[in-house]
Amino acid sequence: MTVAAATTPEALAGSAQDGFAARAVEVTKVYGQGDARVVALDRLTLGIPKGAYTAIMGPSGSGKSTLMHCLAGLDSVTAGEVYVGDVELGRLNDKRLTRLRRDRIGFVFQAFNLVPTLTAGENITLPLDIAGTRPDRAWLDTVIDTIGLRDRLSHRPAELSGGQQQRLACARALATRPQIIFADEPTGNLDSRSGAEVLAFLRRSVREMGQTVVMVTHDPVAAGYADLVIFLSDGRIAGQLAEPTAERVLERLRRRPAGGTQDPDPAERAADGPRSAPPGGSQ
Ligand SMILES: Nc1ncnc2c1ncn2[C@@H]1O[C@H](COP(=O)(O)OP(=O)(O)OP(=O)(O)O)[C@@H](O)[C@H]1O
Ligand SMILES: [Mg+2]
Repeated sequence: MTVAAATTPEALAGSAQDGFAARAVEVTKVYGQGDARVVALDRLTLGIPKGAYTAIMGPSGSGKSTLMHCLAGLDSVTAGEVYVGDVELGRLNDKRLTRLRRDRIGFVFQAFNLVPTLTAGENITLPLDIAGTRPDRAWLDTVIDTIGLRDRLSHRPAELSGGQQQRLACARALATRPQIIFADEPTGNLDSRSGAEVLAFLRRSVREMGQTVVMVTHDPVAAGYADLVIFLSDGRIAGQLAEPTAERVLERLRRRPAGGTQDPDPAERAADGPRSAPPGGSQ
C-alpha cells in the first residue's frame, strides 16, 4: 500500500480532510521559559493517513514523543491546531477532551502500564469498564485471537513474557476500537523476537481490522513494518519515506544523519507528490 502524509499546510489543505485520522496544523510546542525554554515542535504540519501504519523516527530530543502526546490530546500545544478526525482538540473543555481520548484514541506506552492485580482479560476490557461501555464481543474476540493470548487471559501481567505484555497493552488500546492508536517505542524494551510479535500484531490491526496506527521507533527494522516513515528533526518534519524497508530506512538515515534539518524540499516533494520517482531509482 502506498500512502503519503501531508507535511505542509498547502498539501494538507489541498487534500481530502477525511483521508486523515489526525492532523497537526502548524503546531508549535514550547516547554519552559527563559534559559530553560525549549521549542520541542516548531510549526510542524502533519496529516496522518487513515487506515495506515505510520512510523515516526528522528534523533533523541527531536520531538517525537511530544508530537504523539499533542496528537493524542495528552498535552496542549503552544500554537497551531490539532485535529482528531474533524474535531479540533483546542476547542474542547477538559471533560470533552477526556471523553474523546477515552472513546477515540488508544495509547501504547513504552512502560506497558498494565494493572498488575488484574488478569490479562480484565486488563483488555478495563477501558470499556471505565467508560461504562458494553464490550463488542465479536470485536474483542477478533482482538484476542489476533494477539494470540486466548489461553493466557486468566494470567496476570507478571506471569506473561515481555512480548506478551506488550501485545496485551496493544490489545487494550484496541479494545475500544479507537480511530487511531499511538504507540511510543512499543518494542523498545523487547528482544527482537517479542518485538517482531508486537510489530506484526500492529500491522495486522491495520491490514485486517482497518486501524490507524502511529508508532515512534528508533529501529529501522521496526519502521520496515510500517506503510510510511516520517522523519523528524529539531521539531520539524525532515522528510518521509513510503513503503519503507529496513534497508531503505537505514540508507535514508545514513544519507541524512541526525540533525540534518535543511533538506525538506526534495524529500517533501517526492513524498507529497507521487508523480516524482526517486532519483536513480536505486532500491
Ligand atoms: N516536560 C518537558 N519539559 C521541558 N522540556 C521537555 C519536556 N518534555 C520534553 N522536553 C524537551 O523537548 C524536546 C523534545 O522532547 P521529546 O520527548 O519529544 O523527544 P523525543 O524525540 O521523543 O526523544 P527520545 O527519542 O529521546 O524519546 C527535548 O529537547 C526535551 O528535552
Ligand atoms: Mg520520546
